[in-house]
Amino acid sequence: MKKKEQSISYLEYQGINELPDMERKLVEEAVSAAGGAYAPYSGFKVGAAIMLDDGTITRGANVENAAFPSGSCAEKTVISYTVANFPDKRTTAIAIAALAGGALTEDPVPPCGNCRQMLIEEEQRLGHPVKVILAGKSGIIVLENCKSLMPLSFTKSNLGRKV
Ligand code: THU
Repeated sequence: MKKKEQSISYLEYQGINELPDMERKLVEEAVSAAGGAYAPYSGFKVGAAIMLDDGTITRGANVENAAFPSGSCAEKTVISYTVANFPDKRTTAIAIAALAGGALTEDPVPPCGNCRQMLIEEEQRLGHPVKVILAGKSGIIVLENCKSLMPLSFTKSNLGRKV
């Protein structure tokens, strides 16, 4: 038996003004995208913005449904939109932010497990790291890649066949 460990590293910024230009711009887009969320049940509006390699920014928000599981998270919305509409462009970064009661949350919002799966698969499909920026009023977390969001994640290799 061996004991194994996996650790992750990330940057923590004190606020939006401390971020490099590209990251600040992407966070602003995520905050703005959150304004477009349809979240009548939770009141928790999430926005996500993706930066493509040519500088294009795509945006998504959570869209809830009376049949609760039918809703979509902001990250899933923007990943699906981006893959479908920009199949030849490459995602370099994603920023995520949420509004509660109309104001940016104090803490950065961590993506849910499903969205982590989506992010990790997209990063694998692209074959290069995708930066993740989690924005809150009192702190912003920047991870260099998606795979560190979920150690021991389920990926296509677990299916035991080539896809
Ligand atoms: N939500 C997201 O959009 N992204 C996440 O990663 C976490 C949760 C949404 C789903 C639901 O509409 C609301 O936030 C409350 O869970």
